[in-house]
Amino acid sequence: MKILNFETSEILAFNLAKLIVRKINESSGVFNLAVSGGSTPKILLKELSETFIDEVDWSKLNIYWVDERCVPPGDDQSNFKMTDDILLSKINFEESMIHRIRGEKSPKEEAKRYQTEILENIPVEGGTPVFDMVLLGMGDDGHTASIFPDNVDVFYSSNFVENTVNPYSKQNRITLTGSIITSARDIVFMATGKNKAEIFKNVIEKDEKYPASHVLMQTDNIRFYVDDEILGKS
Ligand code: 6PG
Repeated sequence: MKILNFETSEILAFNLAKLIVRKINESSGVFNLAVSGGSTPKILLKELSETFIDEVDWSKLNIYWVDERCVPPGDDQSNFKMTDDILLSKINFEESMIHRIRGEKSPKEEAKRYQTEILENIPVEGGTPVFDMVLLGMGDDGHTASIFPDNVDVFYSSNFVENTVNPYSKQNRITLTGSIITSARDIVFMATGKNKAEIFKNVIEKDEKYPASHVLMQTDNIRFYVDDEILGKS
């Protein structure tokens, strides 16, 4: 595991965007990227759509979501909407390259449908679809994707996609599970801010209570992009 530390979240976002751009451009064919939602990736998507917009062969990118809130695509809570507003709408993407989780559909059926869409499009190795990159976030309760501390078992589901429930808001979620997340060629966590400092320490020590720790328990192939605040340096 590598921890890459940057002074501010802005410098972090620039450097992570640079990594993503390099990986897309270096890939010989389609680059399958799964992105997370929440607020942390906004600054990264902005870097991609502003600083790096002309430096990427966007026609190679196929975009998926690590998780989605079960709301319609135009809802302010939708992870698709966030990605679309900041990045996708700025690029002339073919519809077929955007693999949205349909948050407006019945969660259980949509989890099955999304798994089928993944299996039909992503190369399968040893029985598991392999994304080129999975971008993860971490909540201040140690959740990652939409796998929360009260349902860590979902991480070990034999399905690649599951319907979960946010324990605080009771909102239905659809999430990738552990085997598909940890099989990705590149696994990147982006985590920033003072309020996550304590949980970050626990996750790095692989405290089993936290879903994010389970990613580290299953693979060493992880890059953590963090700022000074989460390390307690500022
Ligand atoms: C979501 C997520 C989730 C996110 C963390 C961190 O839809 O909420 O994809 O796993 O990465 O909750 O969220 P913040 O970046 O908002 O802290």
